[in-house]
Amino acid sequence: MERSVAVVTGGLGGIGLVISKALAEQGFYVVAGCRPNSSNAEKYAGELAQTHPNITVLPFNVGDFHECQRVVLDIEESIGPIKVLVNNAGITMDGQLKKMALEQWQQVLSTNLDSVFNLTRAALVPMLSRNYGRVISISSVNGEKGQFGQCNYAAAKAGMYGFSKSLALEVASKGITVNTISPGYIETDMIRAIKPEIQEAIKAQIPVRRFGQPEEIARTVLFLADQQAGYITGSNLSINGGQYMA
Ligand code: CAA
Ligand code: NAP
Repeated sequence: MERSVAVVTGGLGGIGLVISKALAEQGFYVVAGCRPNSSNAEKYAGELAQTHPNITVLPFNVGDFHECQRVVLDIEESIGPIKVLVNNAGITMDGQLKKMALEQWQQVLSTNLDSVFNLTRAALVPMLSRNYGRVISISSVNGEKGQFGQCNYAAAKAGMYGFSKSLALEVASKGITVNTISPGYIETDMIRAIKPEIQEAIKAQIPVRRFGQPEEIARTVLFLADQQAGYITGSNLSINGGQYMA
């Protein structure tokens, strides 16, 4: 039987690993991306081979257009047809704009937004040839509302909405859906890097009074990745404990 492949960028990170496992448990053959030379590749490859043999770890830089084209071609040729693409890789390099270095802007835009173009551009062509695909990009509550210290990150995350709605229009008649998920603050290393006192101040602004869990995002990815979700496109699903209601 032909494999259905799901590609999850940042597929070994706090949210990505849970997404990768959830898709694998749903029957997809999952390609979990990570950074070249990532310590996570070594950390998880052995464990996943035991618990989830249908997850392959693939290090590549999502910010590198040509590398992404090669990776998608290789997956299509040697693993199977990509049915689901989850653009999940992302970084923060927070700081007020008045102090922001060019490097902070470029790296965040490259990893968080150029990556969406790089991967989706490559995966779209085979998806179009099969009249089927699910493209899901992980944005953020801070792309919806803005955040002190995150002009770079919020711009990249907001950019995903325009990208996804435009592409959704282009491929709506071709069996391909394009959606975004906007998590609020989810308990991963990304949040743990924020100073504890700032974390507490943020938590106080969340009506459910807690940070979210990666499982709460993975569940929504499964929902959008389902074959029966074909009428949901150009949408954004906010999962933020009530922190921001658009
Ligand atoms: N609103 C208004 N003013 C704020 C503020 C806020 N949220 N946060 C800081 N300030 C003010 C301080 O009161 C202080 O003012 P004074 O100088 O008048 O005393 C000033 O800003 C301090 O500025 P500095 O640049 O010196 O502060 P800093 O370098 O120590 O920290 C920062 C700046 C890195 C942006 C820090 O405020 C911070 O980490 N904020 C949290 C940003 C955040 O939420 N990041 C989310 C990361 S996780 C993620 O992104 C996942 C996701 O999608 C949800
Ligand atoms: P995380 O644990 O730091 O994971 C980020 C992942 O991105 C890592 O797996 C990392 O690879 C990968 N990555 C970073 N740069 C890359 C590059 N250049 N090439 C390839 N892969 C790269 O963060 P997370 O919390 O799981 O976040 C996942 C996504 O959710 C991000 O897009 C983030 O912006 C978004 N998000 C997070 C939150 C939150 O509160 N946590 C809220 C809203 C949105 P390695 O495994 O090699 O490190």
